[in-house]
Amino acid sequence: MNCYGHFDDAAREYVITRPDTPWPWINYMGTGDFFSLISNTAGGYCFCRDAKFRRILRYRYNGVPMDAGGRYFYIKDGDTVWNPGWKPCKTPLDLYECRHGMGYTRICGEKGGLRAETLFFVPLEQRCEVHRVKLTNRSDSPKQIQLYAFVEWCLWNASTDMENFQRNLSTGEVEVGPDVLFHKTEYRERRNHYAFYGANRPFDGFDTDRETFLGMYNGFDAPGQVLAGTSANSVAHGWSPVAAERFDLTLAPGASEELIFVLGYVENPAEAKFEAPGVINKAPARAMLDAFATDAQADAAFADLRAYWDDLLGRFSVASDVPELDRTVNIWNQYQCMITFFMSRSASYFESGIGRGMGFRDSNQDLAGIVHLIPDRARQRILDIAATQFPDGGCYHQYQPLTKRGNNDIGGGFGDDPLWLLFGTIAYLKETGDFTILSEPVPFDNVPGSEVTLLEHLKISFRRVATSLGPHGLPLIGRADWNDCLNLNCFSLDPDESFQTTENVVGGQAESLMIAGLFVAEGKDFAELLDRLGDAEATAVRSAVRAMEEAVKKHGWDGEWFLRAYDFHGGKIGSCACDEGKIFIESQGWCAMARIGADEGLCDKALDSAVKLLECEHGLVLNAPAYSSYLYQYGEISSYPQGYKENGGIFCHNNPWVIIAEAMAGHVEDAWRHYTKITPAFGRQSHDLRKVEPYVFCQMVAGAEAARPGEGKNSWLTGTAAWTWKCVSEYILGVKPQYDGLLIEPCIPLQYGTYRIHRRFREAAYDITVRCTDGGPGKVFIPYSPGRHVLEVTV
Ligand code: GLC
Ligand code: GLC
Repeated sequence: MNCYGHFDDAAREYVITRPDTPWPWINYMGTGDFFSLISNTAGGYCFCRDAKFRRILRYRYNGVPMDAGGRYFYIKDGDTVWNPGWKPCKTPLDLYECRHGMGYTRICGEKGGLRAETLFFVPLEQRCEVHRVKLTNRSDSPKQIQLYAFVEWCLWNASTDMENFQRNLSTGEVEVGPDVLFHKTEYRERRNHYAFYGANRPFDGFDTDRETFLGMYNGFDAPGQVLAGTSANSVAHGWSPVAAERFDLTLAPGASEELIFVLGYVENPAEAKFEAPGVINKAPARAMLDAFATDAQADAAFADLRAYWDDLLGRFSVASDVPELDRTVNIWNQYQCMITFFMSRSASYFESGIGRGMGFRDSNQDLAGIVHLIPDRARQRILDIAATQFPDGGCYHQYQPLTKRGNNDIGGGFGDDPLWLLFGTIAYLKETGDFTILSEPVPFDNVPGSEVTLLEHLKISFRRVATSLGPHGLPLIGRADWNDCLNLNCFSLDPDESFQTTENVVGGQAESLMIAGLFVAEGKDFAELLDRLGDAEATAVRSAVRAMEEAVKKHGWDGEWFLRAYDFHGGKIGSCACDEGKIFIESQGWCAMARIGADEGLCDKALDSAVKLLECEHGLVLNAPAYSSYLYQYGEISSYPQGYKENGGIFCHNNPWVIIAEAMAGHVEDAWRHYTKITPAFGRQSHDLRKVEPYVFCQMVAGAEAARPGEGKNSWLTGTAAWTWKCVSEYILGVKPQYDGLLIEPCIPLQYGTYRIHRRFREAAYDITVRCTDGGPGKVFIPYSPGRHVLEVTV
């Protein structure tokens, strides 16, 4: 049933109309280096720069009920205690509404004639959350109430905060002001940062010791102080510091009160840490509080935030006859691309913010979703990523955002990694035309003095894969390729070993057809780029590409589709000769995008096979049939029950590969059908079935062989965002950025084939009316020239 909410496109919001969604439905706040996750019941947390090392609010993983921890307002009105966001008290509300917008969330609750409207946002260029609370007495009688604002502090390192209790329970320190509570644990030693939660008026009481506030045996749903309408003015020494602030308010009938809270983070220079011995320098916190002291100031900051998103989302928009398409393209897909770019795979309700930093492969793909929005940040990201590369073209699989240093925490030696640097950089170049990036000096492994140009990094990346070939002339897979879970050199029989980091067997000759396709596709693009630069290496690149195409045709074609891989012993994976895992999506997508054997009909055949064998009601599954038992020679892929994740799940990330390939092959109906299946706005799954947010893509929807096909997981942080963006903007709507202009080459069913596009491109703005005719699909090239252009294009 779709009874949990709906889209409000005019406001660019998703409106949640009941709090008990099938899973917390969250939003993100922040655009710079301070970020927050906020659920529809105000759960979640925030951090500065790094979700692991600079965590500000404590959050409970594996908690029951889940999503415990957040910014909780408690209202005590007579004997009733309630929260505007329903949780944690879960007192039934007379009215509830949550609106997740672009970088902000509004939650409104009403109970017994008192309405509480809350607005949460992270202002531009500030390291804080602003919380606005407006209370209105809609009853006929005066009300005397208590409002409590509450957060619980994390002791900064989100990992040790959950483990090292013998230390943690003794380190907590706070300071107290009349209108603000400070969290300064470890500030006395090496930290130069603290957090604070303050209001634009003095409070009437406070607590900073959690158990004093809650009562030793109470949960967040029954804080003893709130139930009694009191505060103990407790000062935390160790244990668990919190900030709980009480305001006693009297509201005449019809009257309103507005309060503004700032939940902020401050870093002080070493020489200015203290204002008196042992007393933190509060000047920066005071400045932040002062910046949001009045309604007018908060209004202005919120207006700035809205203007930021209006500007960004005004860069590409479509007006078509398909509202689901328009809202995906104009709002939610681009928004998700931004969030995914900011977070990489670090912090969501499926990623703890502790384990995974920025992925080399992932972050390069994420660029494709945002180069048209924030090209300067894309540029910096490319240089950061390239600086973690090794001189031989190999890569750390991840790097930490705080230090920008590579690490092997989630493994290394993935055969596909180097090629993604080509992918990301070429996407940037085609969007911006900024070739100066190619001559930027970039070190290896961040070692000063080792700098070569970015172009050289690209060459080394390509050569690395071109020279790491196996017995069939196909790319060696290494630890794995795009599919982290196809671990062909691992052979692990020890459940305590990680598939990602355990030592691979030396001498592995396993080869990947996915990398082969990626190599050919990126190689062609790279050769084109080198030609433009007048660089002679183009010739070598082209011949490596040709050789790879031949190798694929000779050793990578199974008769009806592309093989997936050769295993350690040279056995075929993804072949009709296999009992399970006969066909895989990645090699169909990539080899068909690379158009390998297109003239001989191989791409058409492969795509038809994907439709026949991989397509189900909710999208294309990754492999079929899924593996029914653990096969140690294949690794993690077979560790998942059938229909989930990389074992027969609909891994939404790779569906666009097939959709793009269908578009390239001119298969209009197939491309459209696949796209509408995985795009949540089309509502393929009911809210209860899908479970996760209906406004963003998720990494995986359970596949046909799963117990609950159609159930979504891992929402928000997924390469699906950037790939579906590329797919819909460049291939379905057909607006392809090129070095010299825009190529309009749509692939959309004729009945939807008339639409308008607004596209900013470098120093130009194009308003294009596209009309598809049944003579299509065709293409029209629009050369770049600065200025405003109004055009009609018939294809
Ligand atoms: C996850 C990883 C990504 C990988 C994919 C398939 O999304 O972040 O790097 O390619 O899984 O295994
Ligand atoms: C697991 C996940 C996969 C992810 C990988 C890397 O294998 O299934 O999606 O990419 O971990 O952490």
